[in-house]
Amino acid sequence: MPLQVDNLGTVNLVEACRKAGVTRFILVSSILVNGAAMGQLLNPAYIVLNLFGLVLVAKLQAEKYIRGSGINYTIVRPGGLTEQPPTGNIVMEPEDTLYEGSISRDQVAEVAVEALLCPEESSYKVVEIVTGADAPSRLLKDMFASVKQK
Ligand SMILES: *[C@@H]1O[C@H](CO)[C@@H](O)[C@H](O)[C@H]1NC(C)=O
Repeated sequence: MPLQVDNLGTVNLVEACRKAGVTRFILVSSILVNGAAMGQLLNPAYIVLNLFGLVLVAKLQAEKYIRGSGINYTIVRPGGLTEQPPTGNIVMEPEDTLYEGSISRDQVAEVAVEALLCPEESSYKVVEIVTGADAPSRLLKDMFASVKQK
């Protein structure tokens, strides 16, 4: 199931975008998606997420496909998703840096929309986001700008 939705689903979407002439793709993935390479194989969060049918492995494959496809992408990797309203400010870091933390679904949506609104700052980037109780309030645009393209 995760393999079908996270990997094949993404592959099909990218292909459909290509055909329709859509040139921008925002993928919501997950932190720890590259947990094995980060030395986080024994991190309980990595183990739990992969117990549900190798979710992270499938998401990583989807990310690799998008990065190789040539489409103008932004990959957003949130921490654990919560249904609660935001409890702090958003913290944004480059790929493979965050290994714990959570964030409300509303804030994830906010980041995905902002990625569409500022392609200049967000294109061809992978960002990891969580909520920090003591994190300073910063503009998402500035946070995107401070993450380097790979
Ligand atoms: C694609 O990426 C560049 C940044 O490299 C951006 O300026 C441009 O607007 C993007 N194109 C679209 C269609 O969003």
